[in-house]
Amino acid sequence: QDQLKKLVGQEAAHYIKDGMKIGLGSGSTVYWMIKMLGERVKEGLHIEGIPSSNQTAEWAKEFGVPLTDFSKVEGLDVTIDGADEVDGNLNLVKGGGGALFREKVIAKAAKELIIIVDESKVVEKLGDFPLPVEVLPFGWEMTAAKIKELGCELTVRSKDNEVYVTDNGNYILDCQFGKIENPEMLDQELIQIVGVVETGLFTNMTDKVIVGSKDKVSLLER
Ligand code: A5P
Repeated sequence: QDQLKKLVGQEAAHYIKDGMKIGLGSGSTVYWMIKMLGERVKEGLHIEGIPSSNQTAEWAKEFGVPLTDFSKVEGLDVTIDGADEVDGNLNLVKGGGGALFREKVIAKAAKELIIIVDESKVVEKLGDFPLPVEVLPFGWEMTAAKIKELGCELTVRSKDNEVYVTDNGNYILDCQFGKIENPEMLDQELIQIVGVVETGLFTNMTDKVIVGSKDKVSLLER
């Protein structure tokens, strides 16, 4: 699978043209894209990226990809990111790495959203992967109770026996809804709950998905 992630990550770097402002997603597939972009920058490509996580910012610095922020650019030409699940309508579950809020910001800011995944992420219906929801720490127990009323089991994400804290200082609730029949509606219901910062459901946003499988790279388009 690592090999497939590398393949699609490198493939995605070819979509980047001189002068572009790019949203840089997060995760191990995006790592390969950033590495490849770094090589293209060394060869003379002029681009600037806005990272969706501290980890991505570190990789960009390591590989020499120039960074910028939203105080300096008005929008992005393209955002390239990974995903935890992709369905047939190119709706996504994201946030497995905890970066979903900034990922959604850079996805919304871009003219085009390109998702890079290995074939294991492509599903008929979203929901086997527990849906990450970012919530404010204050009163998170209340927020969690409201989310449960929508019909899920959930756990507060932890790391090394401590509650996991996002780059924004918030918590992640991993919500097991089972198969999600209507991702758009669930996203709307969740976002209305006080304390919910953002959900990992990315609906009607994706333009292209580059999928890596054993013998080929294929492209799904909206
Ligand atoms: C990060 O918060 C996620 O949305 C990632 O995009 C997702 O977890 C994909 O990660 P990998 O490329 O490491 O599988």
